[in-house]
Amino acid sequence: MAESVHTVTTLPTARRPGCPFDPPAELIDARRNGPISRCTHPGGRPGWLVTGYDLVKSVLADPRFSARKDLLNVVDFELPPAPPGEFLLMDEPQHGRYRKPLVGKFTARRMRLLTERVEQITADCLDAMEAAGPPVDLVTAFAKPIPTIIICELLGVPYEDRASFQEQIDSFMNGEPNEEELVAAYTATQNYLAGLVAAKRANPTDDVLSELTDSDLTDEELQGISLILLAAGFDTTANMLALGTFALLQHPAQLAALRDDPALTDRAVEELLRYLSVAKTFMRTALVDVEVGGQTIEAGTTVILSYNTANRDPERFTDPHVLDLHRKDGGHVAFGHGIHLCLGQQLARVEMRVAFSALLSRFPTLRLAVPAEEVGLRPETADIHGVKNLPVTWDV
Ligand code: HEM
Repeated sequence: MAESVHTVTTLPTARRPGCPFDPPAELIDARRNGPISRCTHPGGRPGWLVTGYDLVKSVLADPRFSARKDLLNVVDFELPPAPPGEFLLMDEPQHGRYRKPLVGKFTARRMRLLTERVEQITADCLDAMEAAGPPVDLVTAFAKPIPTIIICELLGVPYEDRASFQEQIDSFMNGEPNEEELVAAYTATQNYLAGLVAAKRANPTDDVLSELTDSDLTDEELQGISLILLAAGFDTTANMLALGTFALLQHPAQLAALRDDPALTDRAVEELLRYLSVAKTFMRTALVDVEVGGQTIEAGTTVILSYNTANRDPERFTDPHVLDLHRKDGGHVAFGHGIHLCLGQQLARVEMRVAFSALLSRFPTLRLAVPAEEVGLRPETADIHGVKNLPVTWDV
């Protein structure tokens, strides 16, 4: 017989005031009550919430769970399948057909070659900050431009289109629930990408998108792949850079340790990824009845996987709620696990390693320009956690 199980009404999202880096308190409580809880999805459908590290990983590695958009059982209407190319929300074999041609373009080796370019872009942002003088908003001056320029270069977005392109993608990913603006920005981005794919097919240049035109992928599929690279690669990294800097500024001893010892950078980036888990939750749907943590998940039921509580699981990490850049117990799930493991993780690592070190060495006296409570957090409706802005200052 199944054990009695903790129940939450719906996915808890409210963070405790003054704790911008911790998962919602009710989610942490749910984990305390066991690694799996019952929950209700917004459309009233019954579901499950998995908060424990081992169970999150086991669901992600289990082919009896699907990532398909059209199988999500969370609202009271049917969802359409993911558009061609948007493989994050597909299962095998479709998922592999899109992911395989991309894997070789995102290897650690290839990403290391990009390091110089990331260093250059970062230096340009820091030069502009220095020229403007304090205070500046670190989100607009640093956290957003670095990943945007990199993604634009990977996709081969011409230089003159970048500013308007950045504005468009920013407005459909900022999580502000303005339906009309969101649809307009999404449509404009899709139209832009359709034109970009056509241009690369006609005149290939030196970028990933042009390379992909030399395959059996259709224009529509290439457009979907481009959108997924953008959506997955820009917002996540930008929020890690801004929220990561905020977390370091709130932990001055940790910040000083990192600034004074560049050899700590790789480990610091992994710890910030674990501690902040900006990609908070993802969903999977059971294809058949599956037993998870002593509970039977019925076929067709959607499970919410909480990556942020998995990364704070006391059974996996010592003092999980402490930011410790010297931490030795690695293995976080901030990039996911299983077949959908983040394709861009090596790129994201290069960007974060370069950007955090350069920022701290250029501005050793960097500090918040406003009280911490005044730093605006993104709404919890945003898929990716972060800050809206981060006013900083330094001694000149
Ligand atoms: C710190 C930055 C990043 C974080 C925290 C992050 C996180 C994640 C996570 C958690 C997943 C798995 C989602 C799931 O389980 O369903 C994922 C998938 C993915 N990410 Fe990232 N990501 C980051 C940066 C990037 C970058 C820079 C790119 C590319 C330019 C990228 C491209 C992708 C793609 C294409 C997928 C889908 C993989 C698949 O379905 O096979 N990500 N990412």
